Amino acid sequence: MACTENRQPKVSVFLCFSFVYVVAVLFSCERVSGQTSAVFACDVAKNPALAGYGFCDKSLSVEDRVADLVKRLTLRDKIGNLVNSAVNVSRLGIPKYEWWSEALHGVSNIGPGTRFSSVVPGATSFPMPILTAASFNSSLFEAIGRVVSTEARAMYNVGLAGLTYWSPNINIFRDPRWGRGQETPGEDPLLSSKYASGYVKGLQQTDDGDSNKLKVAACCKHYTAYDLDNWKGVQRYTFNAVVTQQDLDDTFQPPFKSCVIDGNVASVMCSYNQVNGKPTCADPDLLKGIIRGKWKLNGYIVSDCDSVEVLFKDQHYTKTPEEAAAQTILAGLDLNCGDYLGKYTEGAVNQGLVDEAAINNAVSNNFATLMRLGFFDGDPSKQPYGNLGPKDVCTSENRELAREAARQGIVLLKNSAGSLPLNAKAIKSLGVIGPNANATRVMIGNYEGIPCSYISPLQALTALVPTSYAPGCANVQCANAELDDATQIAASADATVIIVGASLAIEAESLDRINILLPGQQQLLVSQVANASKGPVILVIMSGGGMDVSFAKSNDKITSILWVGYPGEAGGAAIADVIFGFYNPSGRLPMTWYPQSYVNKVPMTNMNMRADPATGYPGRTYRFYKGETVFSFGDGISFSNIDHNIVKAPQLVSVPLAEDHECRSSECMSLDVADEHCQNLAFDIHLGVKNMGQRSSNHVVLLFFTPPDVHNAPQKHLLGFEKVHLPGKSEAQVRFKVDVCKDLSVVDELGNRKVPLGQHLLHVGNLKHPFIVRV
Ligand SMILES: *[C@@H]1O[C@H](CO)[C@@H](O)[C@H](O)[C@H]1NC(C)=O
Ligand SMILES: *[C@@H]1O[C@H](CO)[C@@H](O)[C@H](O)[C@H]1NC(C)=O
Ligand SMILES: *[C@@H]1O[C@H](CO)[C@@H](O)[C@H](O)[C@H]1NC(C)=O
Ligand SMILES: *[C@@H]1O[C@H](CO)[C@@H](O)[C@H](O)[C@H]1NC(C)=O
Repeated sequence: MACTENRQPKVSVFLCFSFVYVVAVLFSCERVSGQTSAVFACDVAKNPALAGYGFCDKSLSVEDRVADLVKRLTLRDKIGNLVNSAVNVSRLGIPKYEWWSEALHGVSNIGPGTRFSSVVPGATSFPMPILTAASFNSSLFEAIGRVVSTEARAMYNVGLAGLTYWSPNINIFRDPRWGRGQETPGEDPLLSSKYASGYVKGLQQTDDGDSNKLKVAACCKHYTAYDLDNWKGVQRYTFNAVVTQQDLDDTFQPPFKSCVIDGNVASVMCSYNQVNGKPTCADPDLLKGIIRGKWKLNGYIVSDCDSVEVLFKDQHYTKTPEEAAAQTILAGLDLNCGDYLGKYTEGAVNQGLVDEAAINNAVSNNFATLMRLGFFDGDPSKQPYGNLGPKDVCTSENRELAREAARQGIVLLKNSAGSLPLNAKAIKSLGVIGPNANATRVMIGNYEGIPCSYISPLQALTALVPTSYAPGCANVQCANAELDDATQIAASADATVIIVGASLAIEAESLDRINILLPGQQQLLVSQVANASKGPVILVIMSGGGMDVSFAKSNDKITSILWVGYPGEAGGAAIADVIFGFYNPSGRLPMTWYPQSYVNKVPMTNMNMRADPATGYPGRTYRFYKGETVFSFGDGISFSNIDHNIVKAPQLVSVPLAEDHECRSSECMSLDVADEHCQNLAFDIHLGVKNMGQRSSNHVVLLFFTPPDVHNAPQKHLLGFEKVHLPGKSEAQVRFKVDVCKDLSVVDELGNRKVPLGQHLLHVGNLKHPFIVRV
């Protein structure tokens, strides 16, 4: 999704939205003193004649209702429903509807479909997804989605929000410089897939479990291979991502596939960029072929904001705007964020570039989604969720979940003996230093709403012990570190917490980084404060992307390092909970932290995941990069020692093949997953985990495997993960069911899934377990 303020030609569009909005609000204020009820169709109480229409008849199927509706519409009506600000059809009792709402980590007012008012002044603001992902807790992903959709429904009921949310962002965080990496669940395809399906289920699933109904509609974006915004003058609007079939199928596509198939998402958004020379929103193979054909999307495909215009105006992909309209609709686009399809589709029809049947198809997908949301079921106050209202937003439970999510995500990266946790009774003075020490707004990142309230780190720490505070830098850019107060405080404090990092001024939409060091003079501040300090020094890094903090890792005076992402409205409280040991940290890094030398070597525009020894290109992410890291994917310690042992795992896995299979007579490197021998071939792995400490712990078990070295396979790949609760001095068993063809397969150079034959290696903690797969 584009927040369009950054781009010159788009400013007018954005202002225009706001302007229309303000006018609409003022207008309705005069008449009904603020819209306080939901927008919906089929208001039979107001217009009894509507009861006779098939599309208002709840007893019919969605398909029949949509067919009944579409046949009553003129071409103009239909075209007016191909854009985010969809038009009303008053003669049929259909009000206008704004499709664009956002809920990346809480109900947001970034899209014009949602706003806050004195009736609902704020909504619960969860951590940015990069930190939530670090919890490696699939039930948390879903729990957050459920709270967000409840608050969204509550706001819809009082006329403040829409029903269609263009979240989550599940692009692979391929390069540490990407300004939007903070919005994503990180660099791993499995974690991203679980995050996508979990969050989407939480948003969409209704209490009755009917998969054809929607609580709110989610949208997985940005399809596909989109993870560059604005780097050294390369803009996402014109970037052509050159992607191999192998990388596409085993890195970029899996989260989207899982979102559609496992999450049953109601929408996918195509991106601005081109993939191999074609704009994604005009590529029939990517849209019709894969999303609808192979994955069977039940819902609508929407463009990123003004994508259709961009592919004509900026990419010059078509000769006329009408061709852009026709090509996107024919490729499978159903809804345009922006006004291009509204303006040019009629011309495209008149020129014979697209026929009305294709438009019927698109608009039917849009209306079917609204039907599933209950938009055509009459008065929402009489429908499920009709009793939700302002009292259900920012409840104490919801705010507590925001704090819990941050606690579960925070990653402890270094902890010398005698450092964390601090003992609140023993600390008579705590130094609190750094440009993010009193962060509020910074904690909620982008695609934010107005939070219920903030708890800054300084505020939370001050509630526990006496503190002395010096920011040390005027802001995160930190042009000139102000060392005097900061070092003086550290010299006399019993312990010092230094909270540094980034903000949207450093990494954001339309703002990729060039450098991955701590910004400005922050490193100087940290080193000087550490050198001056009397007690332990806790370095807290608040950022979306990884930072090269090698200096801090190797500095003995810096006794602990925590990464806290952008931790949401209650982030400060969660940080204090961890520092003082009220919560035993359990988060793990969802992305690799590279040294600065990496970004000096690797152009952000190179999409290849795999290393290329011929050119010295080092590859990307823990799956392919062999070089030095500052911290690695999956890193994270706790205050407890946890032991792993393998209780049950195979030595040998035999794949039964038919008598005439070619691999029975000759040597094969791998077996095609598409073959029938791949049905129901699974085994169990049982792992023992033992908490050696007194303190209870939530522990993430990461199960990796290394396949045989064929087909340029990943050197290591996450196969499964599970978060378990371990009381002090306790043991538990964690079981994984491994589907040989799904979980042990790799994608070959042509995009086919293959099970490599030979020795595979399982990794859990420091344990390695080899086993053979053979025919
Ligand atoms: C939409 O609503 C406006 C204002 O109520 C009305 O003037 C207009 O005719 C309606 N458009 C359609 C297509 O029904
Ligand atoms: C911390 O931030 C809050 C909110 O911006 C502000 O009211 C408060 O004065 C700040 N505290 C200090 C000590 O600067
Ligand atoms: C550390 O502080 C001492 C004085 O307290 C000073 O002499 C020394 O130069 C400092 N070291 C660094 C690396 O700044
Ligand atoms: C996972 O998250 C859920 C929801 O917050 C929580 O109830 C559960 O305890 C978490 N699991 C672990 C092991 O932390």
